[in-house]
Amino acid sequence: MRVLTGIQASGKLHIGNYFGAMKPMIELQEEHELFTFIANYHSLTTSKDAATLKQYTIDAAADYLSLGLDPEKTTFWIQSHVPEVLELYWILSKFTPMGLLERAHSYKDKVAKGIPASHALFSYPVLMAADILILDTQKVPVGKDQIQHVEMTRDIATKFNNEYGEIFVLPEHMVQEDVATIPGIDGQKMSKSYDNAIDIFMDEKALQKKCNKIISSSTPLGEPLEYENDNIFALASLFLDKRETLELQARYQSGQEGYGHFKKYLKELIWEEFAKAREKRAYYLDHMDEVNDILEQGAKKARAIAKAKLETVKDAIGLI
Ligand code: ADP
Ligand code: TRP
Repeated sequence: MRVLTGIQASGKLHIGNYFGAMKPMIELQEEHELFTFIANYHSLTTSKDAATLKQYTIDAAADYLSLGLDPEKTTFWIQSHVPEVLELYWILSKFTPMGLLERAHSYKDKVAKGIPASHALFSYPVLMAADILILDTQKVPVGKDQIQHVEMTRDIATKFNNEYGEIFVLPEHMVQEDVATIPGIDGQKMSKSYDNAIDIFMDEKALQKKCNKIISSSTPLGEPLEYENDNIFALASLFLDKRETLELQARYQSGQEGYGHFKKYLKELIWEEFAKAREKRAYYLDHMDEVNDILEQGAKKARAIAKAKLETVKDAIGLI
């Protein structure tokens, strides 16, 4: 099965991103033909300046490779290295009713947040449709906010197919229903916009400082601690198996340790979990030529498929 997903590179990754999106996505490469790209044309719609967009693109590549994306199994590239999607984007625009785009929640949300209402922002879903359709994608793993865009892709493809024959595969979205919302240090959903995130690649001191800021109740030392609604417990259990989680519960209930101990323990868990990834990331950042090689190979492979598809489309609609 061909599975494709685009990554919006938007800065530092946090633990919520990792457990909510990256880990489940990376696991897909074990069973499917996975295609993953860094959506830098899409990021342009909200980009502040050239240096930041470049940095975010490089960071995303190093982050995904170090956290387990395996270039032997997954085709990985930068969107703008396969410019054929822009040609298809224009062609698909003809099959995109204005009303369809006017109903897009994501566009309305972004404008409500103060992002200038440009044509690129408005037509963002058409480019996303081109990304998906140009590779004959069958499944698209996305967060809930992106389901509508996959539905729009199906609408556009159906309209095209009705007029010109069965050219496009109709993709389906794939949403990780069972992924819990990871809490931030204040107990709200962890998000880079709420200043409550624990970043994956923090240095050790900063990580301990962040963990120390986790809000917990004020049970005096010596009394059993509640683990049910405790943020430290919720975060720690992400890194533990069943038996270890039960052991941690017992430690909470014994009343012999305070929240300070568990904050230190949580920091150790996070630090250990990402030790290998940290090393790999440092290596990749030091050997960017290797990263560029991987991305180039990926682009070459994706581009060959995209070129062939684009030719079929152009021929079908009469572009000579
Ligand atoms: P943020 O809220 O930090 O801006 P994004 O909206 O960029 O995060 O999310 C990127 C991906 O990470 C999405 O697929 C989203 O579902 C997932 N994600 C983000 N925060 C969390 C969280 N707290 N718990 C679970 N998944 C999350
Ligand atoms: N819009 C997606 C997001 O914000 C990123 C994206 C761009 C994408 N093109 C895609 C995702 C194609 C899946 C398939 O997360």
